[in-house]
Amino acid sequence: MGPDRPATIPAAKFGTTLDRMRFTSALGYLLLLATAGALPARPSPNRDARVEDLLQQMTLEEKSGQLNQYSAGQPTGPGTHRDSYETMIASGQVGSLLNVTRAEEVNRYQRIAVERSRLHIPLLFGLDVIHGFRTIFPVNLGLSSTFDPALIEETARVAAEEAAAQGIRWTFSPMVDVARDARWGRIAESAGEDPYLGSIMARAYVRGYQGRQLHDPTSILACAKHFVGYGAAEAGRDYNTTDISERSLRQVYLGPFHASAEAGVATFMSAFNSLDGVPASANAFTLHDVLRGEWGFSGLVVSDWGAVEETISHGIAADGATAARKSFLAGVDMDMESGLYVSELPGLVRSGAVPRQELDESVRRVLRLKVDLGLFENPYAPVDGSATVRPRAESRGLAQRAAEESFVLLKNAAPQGQAPILPLASRPGRTIALIGPLADSARDMLGCWSAQGIPSDVITLRTALAERTAAEGMRLLYAEGSKILGNDRSGFDEAVRVARKADVAILALGEQGDRTGEGASRAHLDLDGQQEKLLEAVHATGKPVIVVLFSGRPLTVAWAAEHANAIVAAWFPGVEAGPALVRMLFGDVNPSGRLTATWPRAVGQEPLYYNALNTGRPTPPAVDAREVTSGDATSIGAYRFTSRYIDERNAPLFPFGHGLSYTTYAYSATSAGARRISAAAISGGRASVKVSASVTNSGKREGTEVVQCYIRLTGTSVARPASELKGFQRIRLAPGETRRVEFVLTREELSFWNIQMKSVVEPATLEARIAPDSTRGAGVSVIIEP
Ligand code: BGC
Repeated sequence: MGPDRPATIPAAKFGTTLDRMRFTSALGYLLLLATAGALPARPSPNRDARVEDLLQQMTLEEKSGQLNQYSAGQPTGPGTHRDSYETMIASGQVGSLLNVTRAEEVNRYQRIAVERSRLHIPLLFGLDVIHGFRTIFPVNLGLSSTFDPALIEETARVAAEEAAAQGIRWTFSPMVDVARDARWGRIAESAGEDPYLGSIMARAYVRGYQGRQLHDPTSILACAKHFVGYGAAEAGRDYNTTDISERSLRQVYLGPFHASAEAGVATFMSAFNSLDGVPASANAFTLHDVLRGEWGFSGLVVSDWGAVEETISHGIAADGATAARKSFLAGVDMDMESGLYVSELPGLVRSGAVPRQELDESVRRVLRLKVDLGLFENPYAPVDGSATVRPRAESRGLAQRAAEESFVLLKNAAPQGQAPILPLASRPGRTIALIGPLADSARDMLGCWSAQGIPSDVITLRTALAERTAAEGMRLLYAEGSKILGNDRSGFDEAVRVARKADVAILALGEQGDRTGEGASRAHLDLDGQQEKLLEAVHATGKPVIVVLFSGRPLTVAWAAEHANAIVAAWFPGVEAGPALVRMLFGDVNPSGRLTATWPRAVGQEPLYYNALNTGRPTPPAVDAREVTSGDATSIGAYRFTSRYIDERNAPLFPFGHGLSYTTYAYSATSAGARRISAAAISGGRASVKVSASVTNSGKREGTEVVQCYIRLTGTSVARPASELKGFQRIRLAPGETRRVEFVLTREELSFWNIQMKSVVEPATLEARIAPDSTRGAGVSVIIEP
């Protein structure tokens, strides 16, 4: 831009930077004026011209630099094989940085790119904004338990606004890996085990992050990760091998990724795992054939951290150049943290091992996103980014609502002759004992990916309960009881003492926040440390016991499930943990969360998921219950040679979709609009199967029920799961109110990958069931005719 820059553009915003930026046309200049003022931001119509103009000027090194992403905070300088970032940015060797978290730092690096690099191309800043940026919401598994995509979209929007205010315009979220194994730590970041629900949640996150258009300064790029199969890590061990049949890949694991692509997600991240012997970050079948070819994805693919280099450990590359070549040619555009693209791609192109056009195409993808985000016009974080540093009151309000909706009431029994223990009665003079290592642990409430969340923003259960009990003239006694980990039982006496003085004991137990998420797989899913013993000791006082479980995964809590009066799965609820829990415990809100991942009885059942195939020798559920509980599990009864364990039931402790309420719901039988319908008509979009049921609030409180619709298809060319979620609706019902709930099953719900590996609607018998969870409800049969 020339020296005749009009004085009306605030100098602080554009200053010397834009004086030096290249604007190749008068139109670009006019656009700058438009975006600098109050005019609505719009994608640049000359995006492609600008990108091509830049491409023509770029050297091979600069092009490879655009495909290089480094993490701030990683060592640079002598001995690291890496220049300082300042030097590399100035010489055009870095296209994107991750893990820069604050506006001032973003702007410092950006100034180097925009002012000192030859072509003045701005950097793109990325970060793991997973369940909130500064306002931390429940972990994603908890968010999915809300069955409320609109709410999830709102949380993603708030996260985007907070991150964008600091100049972060790219989040590595949503993680849309289907997670069927509770041992895998990253189940906490997932929407659980169901691809249908996962697809709906994926779309919600994408909409929330990306907003209506990327040019909006509060929009950030979303990233569907980890492509693909990462959640199927063998034995639940993070980064482990996966071996997934093409049918399962298409039917289960690809679904939420495809949904993300259809929702317009701007970027994908290639995964760490090998899939069928080919590392996912060098997998031409998934990255090229499926993602680009079948789905027509035109956005950017970034590798996971160091995954390009890790192809060497996988054993398919002997050196960095081969690793870079294989990943790049398979379809990974940008290399996160290996540094191999920037060092190897120029040579690979010169030698002809990598076609120049392919390099250009990947660079185009990066530059287009930078243009789309408006980074050329507004490269810097808003100067007043610090104004949003504290979570706003409305954001905290949303965090509280999200937490309230995420809680799953797993059990709520009535002590002899009384009403169920929850909600707690608030009677002056009553005493509550709050016990356990998670009752007052602010840090753990933030869960595994807390971006810029800080513990001092968290209101713990202890703080909120103290306030509530004081306001109601009740007494709160507190004892930590034990740590989460370790062997120390010295706090037990105090815990038992306070329990004895109380009318009811609340035990806050579970996992440490950072023992979930990445690199946090577990071979044991029991309560850590001495917590179960603590629970047993408090239970032995004879006082009613409520267990509030904080975790990023299903746990094996069979003893608690049998002995505690009530159990709440609270996940890691975020900054409003305490107030949300107190409102739920006292019945100000009626729990409506439902499990999106199956809770096993024993770790040996894993991977345990509801939408499994039936097998040729299914064990009838009644037999499953009877034989093990009768102590006759090893008997050579008629069911010995059915698919079962000899030392444990098949059934989970708590099934997918389970969640209680303070009211009760009654379901009518499911009925269908028509009992015969043509597969061709469904395929062609001319017909659908309509099923409905009446749901009545049969209790005394208003409540929100998550009405679920499951199907089973039989008589098909390949076996289909015994139960598959194909619809859900959250409905609010007053006491006594009845609502007719209808689900429309179309091609999308009824098609599957058949024996010819085609996604089709086949002639079949359809059984559809409208039910409160994945195990209940009587189905209606519909014949899908040829
Ligand atoms: C994780 C990704 C994450 C990336 C960047 C990796 O280790 O697997 O999910 O986005 O780091 O922090």
